[in-house]
Amino acid sequence: MDAENEQQTGTPAGTDASTTAASTTAAATDAPAGSGRGPLSRRAVIGWAGAGVALGAAGVGSVAAATRQDDPAPAPAAVGGDIPFYGEHQSGIATPVQDRLHFASFDISANATRESLVKMLKEWTKAAAAMTGGREIGTGAASGLPEAPPDDTGEALGLPASRLTLTIGFGPTLFEKDGVDRFGLKAKRPEALIDLPKFKGDNLDPARSGGDLCIQACADDPQVAVHAIRNLARIGMGTVNIRWSQLGFGKTSSTTPDAQTPRNMMGFKDGTHNIAGTDTAKLAEHVWVAPGEGPEWMTGGSYLVARRIRMHIETWDRTPLKEQEDIFGRTKGEGAPYGKQKEHDAPDLKAMPEDSHVRLAHPDSNNGLMILRRGFSFTDGTDGLGRLDAGLFFLAYQRDSRKAFVPLQQRLAGSDALNEYIQHVGSAHFACPAGVRKPGEWWGQALFG
Ligand code: HEM
Repeated sequence: MDAENEQQTGTPAGTDASTTAASTTAAATDAPAGSGRGPLSRRAVIGWAGAGVALGAAGVGSVAAATRQDDPAPAPAAVGGDIPFYGEHQSGIATPVQDRLHFASFDISANATRESLVKMLKEWTKAAAAMTGGREIGTGAASGLPEAPPDDTGEALGLPASRLTLTIGFGPTLFEKDGVDRFGLKAKRPEALIDLPKFKGDNLDPARSGGDLCIQACADDPQVAVHAIRNLARIGMGTVNIRWSQLGFGKTSSTTPDAQTPRNMMGFKDGTHNIAGTDTAKLAEHVWVAPGEGPEWMTGGSYLVARRIRMHIETWDRTPLKEQEDIFGRTKGEGAPYGKQKEHDAPDLKAMPEDSHVRLAHPDSNNGLMILRRGFSFTDGTDGLGRLDAGLFFLAYQRDSRKAFVPLQQRLAGSDALNEYIQHVGSAHFACPAGVRKPGEWWGQALFG
């Protein structure tokens, strides 16, 4: 059987084809299943159209071969634009930051069981491997049984993988909620996965905070990121519900020091001094959990702190340039530290105001501690008073939040000049396990196994 035929008969992810057919009440359409009306794969459309994606000979071969979730994936990175899904660490952490974000925090439904959760995590993993490889889920968007809803919602058809990464995290409430050990996981909760303390100035909205699980979807195309979250939510229906979600744009932190540093909504370069995704020594020191640190299932993983930080944009926009620069301790145009000429010149912290953000946050002021910042800007319309609901969706990865985000934020919340212009309105903490190493393994296997 050739690969193209094979995909037409593939079994949908997590769905037994016979039960799907039996349970559906949808009327049959004129086109018989597998009649060839089905879509070209996302990758095939791009590949054959030659739409700006650099495909080598190997890549073109895999265009035709790997189109549906259950098709064998091509060798990692064989096709331009794909970030390998399988690996020692989850992608989406040290990966060069993409342009767009769709972040979703999920609550597990009251009637879900450990078994249904495991089943969903297995299905999620297969779907995630497919989508990050630019393939459709299950039998695809338009070539499954006519009587059944398509396995894939279809809005990413014809789009490349767009460097999509999907990163999963487990929140404190997965392990224990309101004193109840719902899934027999309490003993496996890492000590580092604390309930974050309240920080000075916090004005947290519970509806935008916490969550049992999270998925961070990053891609260069917002439609690809949204498609990924939508489809995972669809697969999880009945087992999980989205508690809150956040769209983001204009990455505010770079993990690629050679690239031009992006600017945040305050107009300042953001990410100048960050942990580079290629700096394996710093990643090992500050980001990846080492063997023996907490439960085995977190080795090679990382802790994620997410904070929705609202900016008082209108007040900021009336603030003089010099005052804006004093707040960060860097110039607005070049991004140079005070007293220096160029953005990447080593800062002289004493040349910056004592309460400036960079002076307070720099490792030299914090016993060398560093976090990997991976945040995005957001604008969620206006707030009813005519003010932009905009700011920074701050995402930071670290080896142990108790020794990184918590002391850093305590310091910033206490004295940062920036506080006059920002407010933390959402907060969450997740344990992101190590990567899925090969097909057949699944998200959370080491935790649930
Ligand atoms: C809306 C809120 C925030 C804004 C607008 C903001 C903006 C910036 C800017 C413009 C820089 C200088 C450029 C750079 O090195 O990246 C910076 C640096 C930094 N920020 Fe923030 N930041 C915010 C919140 C936070 C929070 C909550 C933390 C951690 C708790 C944090 C930690 C850092 C660190 C560690 C640096 C690098 C300092 C250095 O090593 O020189 N920031 N931030």
